[in-house]
Amino acid sequence: MTEEKALLQVKDLKVSFFTPAGEVKAVGGINYDLGYNEVMGIVGESGSGKSVEAYSIMGLLASPGKVMGGEILFEGDDVLKYDKKQMEDFRGNKVGMIFQNPMTCLNPVYTIGNQLMEAILCHKKISKEEAYKKAVSMLELVGISNPEKRMRQYPHELSGGMRQRVMIGMGLICEPKLLIADEPTTALDVTIQAQILELMKDIQEKTKMSIIFITHNLGVVAKICDRVSVMYAGKIVEQGTVDDIFYNPSHPYTMGLMRSMPRIDAEEHEALISIEGTPVDMLNPPEGCGFGTRCEYCMKLCLKAQPPVVDLGNGHFSKCWLLTLKEKGGETDGE
Ligand SMILES: Nc1ncnc2c1ncn2[C@@H]1O[C@H](COP(=O)(O)OP(=O)(O)OP(=O)(O)O)[C@@H](O)[C@H]1O
Ligand SMILES: [Mg+2]
Repeated sequence: MTEEKALLQVKDLKVSFFTPAGEVKAVGGINYDLGYNEVMGIVGESGSGKSVEAYSIMGLLASPGKVMGGEILFEGDDVLKYDKKQMEDFRGNKVGMIFQNPMTCLNPVYTIGNQLMEAILCHKKISKEEAYKKAVSMLELVGISNPEKRMRQYPHELSGGMRQRVMIGMGLICEPKLLIADEPTTALDVTIQAQILELMKDIQEKTKMSIIFITHNLGVVAKICDRVSVMYAGKIVEQGTVDDIFYNPSHPYTMGLMRSMPRIDAEEHEALISIEGTPVDMLNPPEGCGFGTRCEYCMKLCLKAQPPVVDLGNGHFSKCWLLTLKEKGGETDGE
């Protein structure tokens, strides 16, 4: 993707947590571009660094977390160099975030209307009446019936699905160019999950905003994303279009993820296979590939050195020694 086409460019981002037990290298140098009107899925097992990466973009990393290196360019400006005021403007006007648990974001002692209006009035120079109208129409947009009544209610008076819709409304109220959604539907039952996804897809198509969609659910990825980044142990191990990742995965971890997911086109009685082994201890990450000890194709080299990124063409990248050696036409057995 060319520079001017990218809304967001993450370059060699490194984030660590300084805990009493030592430095946890939660994100170990990741790179990706996100285009305008593009939805990027971030998948990967628990603890792989998905949320930490998202929080870094929002400037919401809490102590003892620290960005150790890299750049986060939003329309060419480095977000990591923003001062407090620029960051507030960025968070309020350019980027919105939807969290996994609405109750962590909605304040229980203020009405829904109050919170939505506050979010607008803080960042936009408009009158209270206009803010009220905007809040009501946002509630309508996210599919909440009787919005004027909901404006007067408190978060606990709404169902889980409705609260999640309000959260989406909060994330969208300032018309951001970028929306970061961190597991926005995990806490909901499947029917509501499907409705919320449909809603987000609709809104994205209407507004053309870009979305970073963090999820464990590959079905969700297939439904809403254009491209996918697969994270493992703080690194992006594979990146490509949804089709690349689903039908032509090249990293053994991605292949494992695909085999662990039920598919509609599966042969009868095809077993689902879980990925054996345990995740990497991020306090003592291995020298070589993080997936090495769990990988059925592991070679000696994999445990010694980090694999380079291999460009498989058309924006499909993978970080695996097997591919590097294949590219060189080398023998892979045992080395
Ligand atoms: N406050 C913290 N202190 C120390 N380590 C942390 C802290 N927050 C996150 N980490 C570490 O950073 C790593 C990445 O965490 P992160 O929350 O990004 O994972 P995740 O991929 O979002 O997982 P999940 O799917 O469970 O949400 C983990 O190894 C975690 O232990
Ligand atoms: Mg997370």
